[in-house]
Amino acid sequence: MGQLDNKTALVTGASSGIGLAIARRFAAEGATVYLTGRRKAALDAAVEQVGAVAQVGARGIAVQGDTSDLGDLDRLFVEIENRSGRLDIVVANAGVGDYGPLGAITEEEYERTTAINFKGTVFTVQKALPLLTAGSSVLLLSSSSALRAAPGLGVYAATKAAIRSLARTWAAELADRRIRVNALTPGPVETPGLNGLLAAFPHADDPTAVAPTAAEPTPPTPLGRRGRPDEVAATALYLAGDQSTFTTGAELLVDGGATQL
Ligand SMILES: NC(=O)c1ccc[n+]([C@@H]2O[C@H](COP(=O)([O-])OP(=O)(O)OC[C@H]3O[C@@H](n4cnc5c(N)ncnc54)[C@H](OP(=O)(O)O)[C@@H]3O)[C@@H](O)[C@H]2O)c1
Repeated sequence: MGQLDNKTALVTGASSGIGLAIARRFAAEGATVYLTGRRKAALDAAVEQVGAVAQVGARGIAVQGDTSDLGDLDRLFVEIENRSGRLDIVVANAGVGDYGPLGAITEEEYERTTAINFKGTVFTVQKALPLLTAGSSVLLLSSSSALRAAPGLGVYAATKAAIRSLARTWAAELADRRIRVNALTPGPVETPGLNGLLAAFPHADDPTAVAPTAAEPTPPTPLGRRGRPDEVAATALYLAGDQSTFTTGAELLVDGGATQL
């Protein structure tokens, strides 16, 4: 028996990092998981990984698309409706971050970050609503960068603060449908996304650097290390399944104590 037997889940941005780890864990617990992402090759490879760990009767299904594109979202939910007819779990995970201290924020980076992180989350959940069953669970990926200063990441951190706010309001709005909405808030977690972001930070010896530099964005956690995607996936499983049926509007931190100690 898996914890998510016979459940249908959507994980956006599931071809890499945290989203991929969540998709794998959900399928290993018996869920049929729809995975999204923009790069087809990466998505196909992810579905293969999910298939390799899926319980009998569970599997991964790729739906390529951009979470900030409303036409792509419409296509995604038509496909889920046609194949499965319902959704029990939505994980709005797709997200990006760009290095941009005040003074060096470009309009292009601002548009990209807000479109994918904020607009993408709003319309993913809104368009999922008709398919969500009573008792279903919605998870929104926030970030510990929203809870304390995040030098170099102001716009990114602000989108993640907005996402935490959405979890409160939507939990209230959907309570009468018995749909729970919670924020899942990682600290620094080893993923291609985090490594790409850190590589974009200037180094302390770079004379052209606008502060801050690469040393600062992920200070050591009290546990002395960064997290692993599977550690975030374990918390996602808790919030998605029947172990957390009295938890809604909450924020669960997976940050090695970074924001709390
Ligand atoms: N890693 C951390 O330290 C950390 C900490 C706090 C919060 N988070 C949050 O956790 C989530 C996952 O982060 P991660 O580190 O796992 O990132 P990642 O390794 O870069 O993976 C991001 C995933 O999202 C997909 N994606 C990006 N933009 C998309 C779009 N417009 N439409 C559809 N899919 C899109 C990517 O695939 P394509 O590029 O092919 O689209 C990829 O599958 C993000 O929301 C991030 O902000 C991460």
